[in-house]
This record gives sequence, C-alpha cells and structure tokens, in this order.
Amino acid sequence: MRLDKYLADMHVGSRSEVKILVRKGQVRVNGEVAKDPGMFVTAQDRIEAAGETIGYQEHFYYMLNKPAGILTATEDKKQQTVLDLFPENLRKNLSPVGRLDKDTVGLLLITDDGALAHRLLAPKSHVDKVYLAGTDLPVTEEDVKRFAEGLTLSDGTELMSAGLKILTGDVKADPFGTFIAEAPGPDDHLSLVTIREGKFHQIKRMFEACGKKVVYLKRLSMGSLMLDPDLPEGEWRELTEQEIFSLQGERSAL
Ligand code: URA
Repeated sequence: MRLDKYLADMHVGSRSEVKILVRKGQVRVNGEVAKDPGMFVTAQDRIEAAGETIGYQEHFYYMLNKPAGILTATEDKKQQTVLDLFPENLRKNLSPVGRLDKDTVGLLLITDDGALAHRLLAPKSHVDKVYLAGTDLPVTEEDVKRFAEGLTLSDGTELMSAGLKILTGDVKADPFGTFIAEAPGPDDHLSLVTIREGKFHQIKRMFEACGKKVVYLKRLSMGSLMLDPDLPEGEWRELTEQEIFSLQGERSAL
C-alpha cells in the first residue's frame, strides 16, 4: 500500500499530517529517508516515523472506562457517543463490543476486529461479564437463589443461570475492592452480578423481577479482560498484548 496510507492506518496521523512528516524527511523506509508519500510499502518493510518504528497492526483494541451520560453507539445526531471520546484519526472502523446503557459506567471494549467482537458476543460463547450493582433495597439470599436458578423476566424471557454475590462485611477482601470503594450508597445494597448473556437492560430487569431497582451499575470485566483500576472514567487506553492474547483465547470456549 501507499506509505501515507500505511502511516495513517497505523494511527501516526491523518493522511495530510503524514504527508507533511514525509516531506520534512522524518519518515524512513528500511533505513532510507522516504521522499515520496505515495511510495509502495508492505508489512515486511521497516518503517520509522520521527524516530519510532511503526510496526504493522491489523487491528486496534481499546479499553474505555465509560462514564455515565454517554451512548454506546458509533454515532448519533444529538447525543455524545463513546466514539466521540476518541480522536478522529483513531475512529476508523471502531465499534463498541456489546452495549452498556447510557447510565451504566465501566469497562467497554472498543475494536475494529469484527470477528473477535462477534465471537465474544455470541450467546454460545458464554463469556462472563461481571458488574457491580447498587440497588435501592438490600439483596437477599432468596435473590441469589433465583439468579442461580435462572430468572424469568416480566415479558417471559427465560435467562441462563447468573451469579449474584452480596457484598457486605467482606467487601475489602474482594478482588474488585478498588471499584467497590467508589460505588455510592450503603454497602449492604451492593452486589456483584455475573451474566453470560447480554439481553437488553438485562441486569436492571433481573433485579426488577426480584422487586428491586438498580441505582448504580458498573461493568468490571468481560471474559479475561478486567477494567484497569488506574483508568479514570471517560478515559481509554490500548489493550496490552497480553490482554489481546487472552481475549483471543476466549475463542476456544466456543
Ligand atoms: N444490564 C443492564 O441492565 N444494563 C447494562 O448497561 C448492562 C447490563
């Protein structure tokens, strides 16, 4: 492909920005200063821009700590979407994997790897999603039993077995302690919910079936991918190679 397209696709800058870099002599191909932004390169060439090696990456993977008040969509005429939190030159072909409600916060995987997204979301792949939920009333052992047995929602939808862990005195001992400390409301109204499906408003409707209202919802993990406790709400970072590798391993669960 053309050198300027390669550099733009690898997120070095927009097509016009990378052309300027080439003209300034800041791009090298196999050690030689490139003169023509339109020169032909392949993934086998060693390409450097401003002294940094720009390896070929087929796909891009980001973890977003979604804030409340933002739509999980790629674009919307009126409302801010999760992709609006990314600079324009990174947005090409990116989509969120699954959906969080507008008022739900926490982990959202964003990628241009459609095949991986499809596998992670396929109901038969059984990828666990863990949420921290705050409810208006304390969660009971009866609720735990009903979640485990598989709830039937008000519209008759029958759900798979789900995990429900009441968070009380031992909150600090939980591996997700960092997140729990920041959740609002009394501790005894907090619980960890693990679901394998991703039905519309699923957790809210599950609690509703138990006579409770969800007042706070944060996704903590999706399969092996855990929300980085150092990532502030509204910010994103690239996944590490290890995180990508582990997520790709989720495929074998199919
Ligand atoms: N369940 C819900 O009810 N809402 C979400 O955003 C995610 C799961």
